[in-house]
Parts: sequence; structure tokens; C-alpha cells
Amino acid sequence: MTESAEQANASATASADGQAAGGNGRTPVLSLRNVCKNFGAVSALTDIELDVHAGEVVALVGDNGAGKSTLVKVLAGVHQPTSGSISFDGKSVRLADPSAALNLGIATVFQDLALCENLDVVANIYLGQEKDPYHLDEVSMEVRAWTLLNELSARIPDVRDVVASLSGGQRQTVAIARSLLLDPKVIMLDEPTAALGVAQTAEVLNLIERVRDRGLGVIMISHNMEDVRAVADRVVVLRLGRNNGVFTPDASNQELVSAITGATDNSVSRRAERQRAAQPVAEEVQA
Ligand SMILES: Nc1ncnc2c1ncn2[C@@H]1O[C@H](COP(=O)(O)OP(=O)(O)OP(=O)(O)O)[C@@H](O)[C@H]1O
Ligand SMILES: [Mg+2]
Repeated sequence: MTESAEQANASATASADGQAAGGNGRTPVLSLRNVCKNFGAVSALTDIELDVHAGEVVALVGDNGAGKSTLVKVLAGVHQPTSGSISFDGKSVRLADPSAALNLGIATVFQDLALCENLDVVANIYLGQEKDPYHLDEVSMEVRAWTLLNELSARIPDVRDVVASLSGGQRQTVAIARSLLLDPKVIMLDEPTAALGVAQTAEVLNLIERVRDRGLGVIMISHNMEDVRAVADRVVVLRLGRNNGVFTPDASNQELVSAITGATDNSVSRRAERQRAAQPVAEEVQA
């Protein structure tokens, strides 16, 4: 076993108590124990353990088919777990449907954002949450929309602009602001930077930090290790539907890729090996 694989394993074994350690002994706001989800003969999730604390960003990473979306859907009340337990604020809960999850305080920003292109920002933020759909209080809705966006220091030119005129990053911002409308305690973001350029990615990552600073627990799914390292407090790896280690964001690419793929011999580890081998030569040249 290579040194990096040993390190990866060491981090992974530390994960059992590492989950609790993430919050310095505080009770997690959301806690999963032995959660399994089967689709017929397919085991999408097996014995998943996950803790999320208030004011913490947990990155959920894993290869295609690792079970990330299934886990998010279980927490969003879309899928019912086959077995296992979910606690919220220290109490055991059942998330029977999406409104149960939302009312409890678990909000989800799905990857497709589900915004209405032809409606303005205010209407999108309130979509489905209008107090009285027949008599809209446009003024108070607009004020609340501005307040939410200002609290996030979001760069939206005008809340009366239609979503079709916004950039990808601004749309993500609107979707995040919408998820905050009901004052959730946990927010889940599925690939929030996947479709964004460099500047917009930085803006959305800043936004995620501000959401965390508001005291929310954030679960962020991402395939981008740079984004993960930039914003996550802990990195939870899933592989083939199981936990495969919890890492701190200073873990190397090599460690993370090993945990994600299960292979210690991969292009990232080979590149690191080559760089290590080339090091003395470079030093000699300098001397
Ligand atoms: N509704 C479903 N019915 C049957 N199998 C499913 C269903 N949803 C997910 N699966 C299976 O569960 C496993 C995990 O899928 P999931 O979509 O959670 O992976 P993922 O980590 O989100 O992958 P990706 O990075 O590609 O989005 C896969 O084998 C998938 O085929
Ligand atoms: Mg997915």
C-alpha cells in the first residue's frame, strides 16, 4: 500500500468518530445512522452515516452512481429510506414527503434550479410560497426579496428582472435565496457550480460561505475538488453507496481521489509520483 493510501485509510478510519468531531462535540442539526435505500435489487445506499452541524459546510463527493443524489432525495423527503434513522435537532424524524422536509427546516436547491424563466426574481423567490395566491402583496414580497438578497450580498441588478435575463451565477443566487425564504436550518445544494464560469463560481462559493455564516448547516454536492476545498469544513466521501472516509479540506487531491475511486493507482497519484521523482533533478539543476 502506498503512503498516500495509508493516509487515506487513516483518515477514513478516523471518520467514525470524525463525524462527531466535526462539530466540536456539539449536537448535529442533522444526523443519519445506518441509512439504507434499495431500489428493487439495487442497493443505492448502504449504512450511511452523516452528521451536519449548524454553521458548517459538508461537501458530499463521490463518483457517478455513488449515491449522492439518492442521499439528497432521502433528506429532501423525495425517497423514503429502506432502513436506518434520521434525527433533526436531536429528535428522530420521518421525512414523509418534500413538504415535511421543508417544514422541518431542510431546504434543497436541485441541480436544475427549477426556476421559471418568464417570471421575475420576486415571483421566483415566492414560487409556491405565496401567502395568498389570489391577493399577492407585491410590496412586502419585493421588500423581503431585496432583504434576502442583500443579506447574501447578492449581485442581482433588479428584483423585477425576469430570470431569463440573468446569468448562471445570478440564477443560482435566486435559487439559494428562494430556499432561504422559510428560514431553514439545513440547505442542500446539488452541484451549485457545475455550469458556472470562474468568476461566477467564486461568487456562488462566497454566497455559500455567507449562508454558513448565518448559522445554517450546508450540504454541498460537487465533483470539483477545488471548489470543495475552497468552502468545505469537512469532506464526506461516498463510494458505491457506502461511506468511504471523512476528510478535512486540506486533504490532498491524491487522498480524495483514492477514496472516491477506491484505487490508489490513478492518474493523480501517478502525476504526484512523477513530480516527486523529478524533484531531486530539478534541485540539482538549480545547484
Ligand atoms: N429511482 C431509481 N431507481 C433505480 N435505481 C436508482 C434510482 N435512483 C438511483 N438509482 C441507482 O442508485 C445508484 C446511485 O445513484 P445516484 O443517482 O444517487 O448517484 P450519484 O452519486 O448522484 O451519481 P451522479 O454523480 O452520476 O449524479 C445508481 O446505481 C443508480 O442507478
Ligand atoms: Mg447525482
